[in-house]
Amino acid sequence: MNVHYAIRSGYYTQMKVLGIETSCDETAASVVEDGKRLLSNAVASSMDLHVQYGGVVPEIAARSHIEAIMPVVEQALEQAECTWDDIDAIAVTYGAGLGGCLLVGVMTARTLAITKNKPLYAINHVEAHIYANFITKTTLPGYTLPKNQPSFPLLGLIVSGGHSQLVLFRDHFDYDLLGQTGDDAIGEAFDKVAKILGLPYPGGPSIAKVAVNGDAHAFQFPKAKLDAKYDYSFSGPKTAVLRAVQKLCGKSHDFPSFKLAELMSEAQKADVAASFQRTAVETVVDKTVLAFEEFSPASVVIGGGVAASPELRRQLSDRISIPIEYTDMKLCTDNGAMIAALGCFKMKLGQPAADPYTLDIQPNLSM
Ligand code: KG4
Ligand code: ZN
Repeated sequence: MNVHYAIRSGYYTQMKVLGIETSCDETAASVVEDGKRLLSNAVASSMDLHVQYGGVVPEIAARSHIEAIMPVVEQALEQAECTWDDIDAIAVTYGAGLGGCLLVGVMTARTLAITKNKPLYAINHVEAHIYANFITKTTLPGYTLPKNQPSFPLLGLIVSGGHSQLVLFRDHFDYDLLGQTGDDAIGEAFDKVAKILGLPYPGGPSIAKVAVNGDAHAFQFPKAKLDAKYDYSFSGPKTAVLRAVQKLCGKSHDFPSFKLAELMSEAQKADVAASFQRTAVETVVDKTVLAFEEFSPASVVIGGGVAASPELRRQLSDRISIPIEYTDMKLCTDNGAMIAALGCFKMKLGQPAADPYTLDIQPNLSM
């Protein structure tokens, strides 16, 4: 499609954007049409290679991206039944994320934009997590999607392994960061507590699984109080878990933490997991409720890996007085579809495209 013609004629309802995501351990590509229709969603994860280390090893992730990126892009085109002629633009994550990993996606997208002659859109990964919620249609099997796209003003809670942020969007591209974690992201805190309990990485789903059999009120872990109204912290509660487990096991502070789990019963692990999960989720939900009361948004959406948490969904729906539509778990964790969806809106609303000869990564990009 001729892009200039498309802009002038408002001919955007059939616009197809290829999204590329490589900021952490998922190599992902997807084609999204018109900011709402999911045509394909290809993901290759190097998670299995990181499990033995209890967290993502940046060099291993970057090497895996190099091997997977072109097969994943080809799979995304094939599943969408698209040729390059059908693609109107390429969108790629340029931050935030692991430097070596971002480089693979950005260099691939730059090369494709030049050789296939497509506009290139630089996408903020954290912002894109919100845009997973704009995807409402697909013919792909196995997806449960929101019925309606969210409306503005929109209160967005982004909760992942790298980010815990509360953002108020007045409109597309017009937003304020209300608050964020002062230290660990919530997913990171789940991952660290899982390690203390001897549960496998990633910690969020492992803790959720064990917590089902535990008493969420067995332990009262503290919630950190910060000066800024919407900021929060997870390092205090995480240390409180370590201290509680040391006490349970009758060990002092200098006992190696990786040896504690073998001294705990399954019931003790379940109680610690359930209590920590309740407290961590309450921490972010408390702030979301405060912001909801102050700004009266038309919609509340969540994004990021921890948005897959049933406990988070339960607490939010209980305490927020408007209905919340949740997207499919596969669109909560890192994926190319959210990148493509935001790319569609950038193109549709005339946001500037990136220069494919110079676009650089920004590992510390913030909202
Ligand atoms: O968004 P994501 O895939 O990657 C980052 O950008 O960080 O999020 C990964 C994080 C991990 O910390 C993992 O423990 C957490 O999301 N996570 C969950 C669930 N699934 C993944 N946390 C709670 N419940 C889940 N079901
Ligand atoms: Zn993410």
